[in-house]
This record gives sequence, C-alpha cells and structure tokens, in this order.
Amino acid sequence: MCGIFAYLNYHVPRTRREILEVLIKGLHRLEYRGYDSAGVGIDGGNSKEWETNSKSIQLIKQTGKVKALDEEIHRQQDVDLDVEFDVHLGIAHTRWATHGAPSPVNSHPQRSDKNNEFIVIHNGIITNYKDLKKFLESKGYEFESETDTETIAKLAKYMYDNRESDDITFTTLVEQVTQQLEGAFVLVFKSLHYPGEAVGSRRGGPLLIGVRSDHKLSTDHIPILYRSCDGKNVVMHTTGKDKKSCNTLPRMDEDTCLFPVDQKAVEYYFASDASAVIEHTNRVIFLEDDDIAAVRDGCLSIHRIKRTAGDHPARAIQTLQMELQQIMKGNFSSFMQKEIFEQPESVVNTMRGRVNFENNTVILGGLKDHIKEIQRCRRLILIACGTSYHAGVATRQVLEELTELPVMVELASDFLDRNTPVFRDDVCFFISQSGETADSLLALRYCKERGALTVGITNTVGSSISRETDCGVHINAGPEIGVASTKAYTSQFVALIMFALLMCDDRISVQPRRREIIQGLKVLPDLIKEVLSLDEEIQKLAAELYQQKSVLIMGRGYHYATCLEGALKIKEITYMHSEGILAGELKHGPLALVDKLMPVIMIITRDHTYTKCQNALQQVVARQGRPIVICDKEDNETINNSSRTIKVPHCVDCLQGILSVIPLQLLSFHLAVLRGFDVSLLHARFHHFLTSLMCILYL
Ligand code: UD1
Ligand code: F6R
Repeated sequence: MCGIFAYLNYHVPRTRREILEVLIKGLHRLEYRGYDSAGVGIDGGNSKEWETNSKSIQLIKQTGKVKALDEEIHRQQDVDLDVEFDVHLGIAHTRWATHGAPSPVNSHPQRSDKNNEFIVIHNGIITNYKDLKKFLESKGYEFESETDTETIAKLAKYMYDNRESDDITFTTLVEQVTQQLEGAFVLVFKSLHYPGEAVGSRRGGPLLIGVRSDHKLSTDHIPILYRSCDGKNVVMHTTGKDKKSCNTLPRMDEDTCLFPVDQKAVEYYFASDASAVIEHTNRVIFLEDDDIAAVRDGCLSIHRIKRTAGDHPARAIQTLQMELQQIMKGNFSSFMQKEIFEQPESVVNTMRGRVNFENNTVILGGLKDHIKEIQRCRRLILIACGTSYHAGVATRQVLEELTELPVMVELASDFLDRNTPVFRDDVCFFISQSGETADSLLALRYCKERGALTVGITNTVGSSISRETDCGVHINAGPEIGVASTKAYTSQFVALIMFALLMCDDRISVQPRRREIIQGLKVLPDLIKEVLSLDEEIQKLAAELYQQKSVLIMGRGYHYATCLEGALKIKEITYMHSEGILAGELKHGPLALVDKLMPVIMIITRDHTYTKCQNALQQVVARQGRPIVICDKEDNETINNSSRTIKVPHCVDCLQGILSVIPLQLLSFHLAVLRGFDVSLLHARFHHFLTSLMCILYL
C-alpha cells in the first residue's frame, strides 16, 4: 500500500541534493509494498531566494515508479541542488491509488493552497472526507485533487487561519486536525509557518521514528505529554502518576522530550515501515494509535490528547536488530504467510466505507451508476482464471439467491475457446487480482465487442481490466506479492457478496437474509483471526502429511470452491498432487481413489448440505478412509464421528467458505516449507520485485 518517509536534519548541514537522495532512497525501500505514484515536498527556492530568506515549499510529484520521480526532480530547472540547509524537513510518499486515479495532482504530498502553506503525506482512508470537503468548500476552499487527503491539508490551514492565539504550536494544530478525522491514517505534516518542524500522527496504521545522532541522547524513554484541562501539556511520569497541577512544562526539559544533550546535531526519520529507516539508524520509536509526535528545535516530543486507563506512560527507544528482508516480511518467513495473516485486515479494507453495519446498507461507489442496468440484465457471467475463478464459484450460489438471475461462472480460457455466445443484455464480470491476466483481458474485449456491460472486480487500480471495464469494484486488499493468491481470494469473495447484497437492497422479502449476511460480514475479521490461531495445529498436520504423494479435498455446496482452491494452493506451492472433489460426485468415480492410505480432507459445515455431507463421510469411512474433517467447532456429531477434525467457528452459510479456505491456505504453506521449497522465493509474478529486493539485500 502507500508508504511514508520523512527526513529532518537538525544542525547537520545537508545540500538539497543530499536531502533528495535520502528521500528517494527511503521511497525505494518502500517500493516493495506496491504503489502507482510518488512525490516529495521540500523547502523551495534557489540560492538567491534562500539567502534573502523568502521561504517557500516545493512539491515534485510523478505517476509511476520512484525512478520516474527521481528523473522528474532532475528535470526541474528551478531546483538548485547545491543549496545547503542546516535545518530542513523533507517529506516523501509512495501512493497506491484509492481516491482518484494515479496522477501527479492526486499524489502526495497534498497541499492546503497554492502557496503550500501546509503539506501532508497520508496512508489510510479518511471516511468522513466528503463532509469535511463540503464544509471546507463552504468556507471558500477550492480542491484540486480527487483525494481524501487534500481535506487534511486544507483543514490544517483552516485551523491555522482561525486560530485562537498567535502562538499556537504545530502540535496543537495537528491535534485539532486529527480530532476531526474519521477512518484510518498515518500522517506527516510540513508547514511554511513552522520551518524545520515535523509533526506526525497515526490511527490504524504504523508510524515509527528513527533517531540518529553522534551525541548522547537525553533519554531512552520519551514520556507522553497529555493535553491538560486548560489546553496545556502535562507530563505523566514513568511512575504512572500525573502531576497534580495543569502547568506547562519547559520544552527542553529532559523529562518531556528527546534531544541530543547540548542541543547538538540530530537527524530524524519518520516512516511507515522500518525498512526505510534501518540503513540510517537502528534506534527507533514506534508510535501508537493517536500519538502525535513532533520535532521542534531538534527535540522530539510525543503527545496525546486524553489519558486512558492502561496507557503506557512513555515510548521507549528500541534497537532494531532485524535484517532488512525480515523487516519487510514482518515476523513471517515469506510474503505468502504474511498475506495469509493479513486477512483479518484485508477484508476490512475491502468493506471500508462500503458496508454500514448500523443500518445494514451497502454502497459500491464504482457500481452505483450502473446498478439499475445490471438489475435489468438477462444473466450474469463471471469470468476469471485460477484462484479468481474460484472466487466466482464460491459466491455463485448467493448471487443466484439474491439476484434471482442465472449466473454462469467461466474459466476465461475455456470461455474463449468455446466462442461462448454473449449478448447485449448480459453483464460480464472479470475477476482478477492483477487486472492483467491475458485470458481474462481477452475475454473482456470479446464481451465488449458483443455489447455486454463489463464489470471488473480487481485489486490493482489502473490495471488493464480496471481501465477497460465499464465499471467495477476495487477490492482494496493491498498488493499481493506472494505468488499464491490468498488475501485477494477472500477479498474478491467479500466484494462479490457486497455486490449480491446491493442487487437486492430494495427487495423487502430478502431483508432478513441481507441483515444476516451483513452482520456476518461484521464479525468476519474476528472469526478469521480465530481460524488463524489454528496455525500450530495445522503445522502439525502438515508434518504428518508432507511425505504423501497426493491429497484429496472433498466438499459440496458453498465449499466446493474451497476444495478447488485448497487443491490449487497445494499443487501450486508444494508440487504435490491434490484434487478438489465435489462430494456429490464421489459415487460417480472418485470414491475409487479412497483407501486407508489416501489422505482425504473433507469440509462439512451445518448448512443445507449437511446431511448429504454426512453421507459422503460415511462413504469415505466405509472404504477405510480416515478423513480429516474441517467442521464447525460446535458440530458435536461430526466431531464425535471423525478421527480428526479442524474446528472452525460458525458463520452465516454463504461466508463460511472464507473460514474454511484459510486452514487449507495454511496447510499448503506448511507443506511447502516441510517439503523443502523456499516459499519466499516463489515470486514468479513479481520478477521486478525480486530484483529490487536483491538490490536492497546486496547493498
Ligand atoms: C472510491 C475509492 C476508494 C474509496 C471510496 C470512498 C478509487 C479508485 N477508489 O471507491 O478507495 O474508499 O471511493 O468513497 O478512487 N472500476 C472499474 N473497473 C474495475 C474497478 C473499478 O471500472 O475493475 C471503476 C469504478 O466503476 C469506479 C472507479 O473505478 O468508477 C473506482 O472504483 P472503486 O475504487 O471500487 O470505487 P469506490 O468504491 O467508489
Ligand atoms: C493461484 C493464483 C493464480 C491466479 C490466476 C489469475 O494462487 O494466484 O491461479 O489466481 O493466475 O490471476 P489474476 O487474479 O491476477 O487474474
């Protein structure tokens, strides 16, 4: 997703060239997260202007890679790279488009006005930005971008222009701004009014600050400053007791902020990811939600508005000892594992701003102008390849139920091979993580030529499928780097469910069912976490299975797709044979494969297929099979009748497939590791990524 990097040098003379090099390098380190544009904000002016002290801030932004931004910087005629700054703050950002397509004007930093009085870089989504924008427009502010972030910069200026006192600090101003924001954010601000000062804040995303100084630092624990009753700062001592009075503490007090003793040279690095900081320093402070960190006169202080029970009274300087590659993958051994564990978060990102759990409504901005036309269509055709095809299979039943339309699910290659008839009153969906898969793209063009309405379900903003479809839904799962698709599958699943809910929002008879599904979506992230907690148990299972030649996975109804997807994951990354079998087809041939040696996994949950699944279980057991059953944790009948179960929490039937696929994602991962495949090297889809990673590692 997006990346934040800022660099503040205090009494460390640096030329503009050096500052820009640090910023660009920081952005390079964040590239692996995926992005589609980048930008920097620095002090402007040529050397003459600088000498006359006429302050300005310059923004340079570019679509595409960081390299393109670097080239754009070197193309600027009016940027004197040799000017030296004793104190300077530069901020930089890589943007993964959410609000508005990738373009220089939508890239960050976003600005408050044409003079760049306040500029800001932002990761996350501001959910109330439309209300804020309306308010600011009513006050005469003109917006230039399509981003939610621009409202933040303009709000800062609004707060500044309407300040109660002239000596308002940058920190207080940012406190006032963040109090108005809803959603998730990581922010770093720079302002013409506060030269050489940086303020950063976070809510719902990571932000850390690296500190580098050759001099001794005043403290290794920065106490939190709380805003007191009269608006001033109070420190909470590490003993945990508040000072009684509401006095303002001296700024340079060693109790309240971090600085090199004797106010000597220091450099600070703000970043959303440790990988951007580690080459400069391994001394970092990790901020927590609602912390506001400010650097002023070379001193770093940390502020919070309110004190709540359980707050830690200080932020410690920690020493990073991890290797760079490890940092990028967090505590995970590969991107695939990281992405499996990201699913509680990625499904929330798919639903963010779209599902309202209070009034049970769903809004898909990308479909709102087309929904009436879709409701009138003759049939829905879902077209995709691989895992994305399975997302179509997984949601077909609920789409049929809620839309009352015939739904075809097609593998793109086969759909093309058959020259499948397509008509003007068909609606064709193209489900694709990358948005670039050749067969899906060809099928899209084929359907367009025949006059059908085309809808994309894509993860990649600006991809060919996203651009060429008439409308669609971005699943917002964040970049998927591991070669085996995991979080994109569950997010595609959720996006298709949201579409089904939208299609029937005015049908009174289905309202109880809609509510049941929406409430199911609400608890989904927690249930996913619960399934992920089975990891150790699944690792043990993998240890028992990894030397086998084959694994059969059986299920029916909502879980047929899970069987196909689980088998695909196993084949793809473990090089073991695996087959997903529709349990209803068992007696028509596949049962012959079952004996006491063949590993079998069955999925049985308490839905309308339950009795039939129990029959299948009996058939397998009758042939001496000893299936491992993925079942509802409260289903005592199955638990008692099976020699081995993986117990998952219960969820509304049409979402249960999200919970049943995760044990199979984990199983395939552990099988691959045990079979000696380096999952971290399975990056076929991201050669360029691998190359840049290697560059970093060999630096
Ligand atoms: C938009 C923002 C989203 C934000 C939401 C808040 C963008 C790209 N998205 O999402 O980050 O949370 O506002 O209101 O700015 N489209 C296609 N084909 C596809 C996918 C999308 O044509 O495969 C089109 C859509 O029809 C739409 C645009 O791209 O016109 C953006 O789609 P999407 O991101 O899903 O729209 P919103 O949910 O409104
Ligand atoms: C499996 C996998 C592939 C993709 C398929 C389609 O783990 O990743 O099967 O799902 O190649 O790719 P997209 O979704 O990018 O169109």
